[in-house]
Amino acid sequence: MSYPVNCVLIGAGGHARVLLDCLSAAEVTIAGVVDQNPSRWNSIFCGYLIVGGDDQVDSLKTRGVTHFILGIGGAGNTSPRRKVYEWACAKELVPVTMRHESVRCSRTAQVGLGVQLMPGCIVNAGAIVGVNTIVNTGAIIEHDCVVGEHVHIATGATLAGTVRVGSGAHIGAGAVVRENIFVGCNSIVGAGAVVVKDVPERTLVVGVPARPQAQKAETK
Ligand SMILES: CC(C)(COP(=O)(O)OP(=O)(O)OC[C@H]1O[C@@H](n2cnc3c(N)ncnc32)[C@H](O)[C@@H]1OP(=O)(O)O)[C@@H](O)C(=O)NCCC(=O)NCCS
Repeated sequence: MSYPVNCVLIGAGGHARVLLDCLSAAEVTIAGVVDQNPSRWNSIFCGYLIVGGDDQVDSLKTRGVTHFILGIGGAGNTSPRRKVYEWACAKELVPVTMRHESVRCSRTAQVGLGVQLMPGCIVNAGAIVGVNTIVNTGAIIEHDCVVGEHVHIATGATLAGTVRVGSGAHIGAGAVVRENIFVGCNSIVGAGAVVVKDVPERTLVVGVPARPQAQKAETK
């Protein structure tokens, strides 16, 4: 691969702003930004033109764009990220994997395509992080954790050793998951929760210790 790669940024919200702050110009050129909100079209976002909605991606491809970076954070709902990721891959765009210079990622960790390792996060020995997962600012993934695809480990969350997180789950800001715990697919761990028991699929847990809420996580 030759650098910098020519890239479209999909999404122009807060997470995208942080990404732009993190990306190295030596590795990525942003050819344009697309966003689903028409009120943002033809405006400047962090110095880049929002060229329109998703329908502009074909036009960007004819102008040499080969890669995409997903600027959607999701705030507790990982479903939009998954859908847009799959849509962009189907367009034969290559996901950019982002690793901020401040990240400590073990040589023995495995990180999938499109993963975003945000400032100050730690991914320790033997951990596996699936495609399109965000490990947000200051989050810690301890040794031998297995984190699935399209997961969001939010700012400051900690997974202790050998935790498994199913695809599409969201681990809220500052939450702690005790060692060896399993968090099921598409579940949500609320901000600040301390998880000491396995969490079934599609379940919302909050509190210390974390307990299931009557409300189920959104059907994906
Ligand atoms: C758990 C969560 C998903 C619930 O969201 P919601 O369904 O919109 O819930 P609401 O804000 O309507 O609150 C519903 C109830 O749950 C309580 N609650 C909400 N979040 C809570 C949390 N993290 N811990 C404990 N209680 C919580 C509220 O106090 C409220 O209680 P009440 O009915 O007695 O008043 C959300 O609050 C959360 O923690 N999201 C994670 C956000 C995050 O990590 N963002 C990171 C971005 S980097």
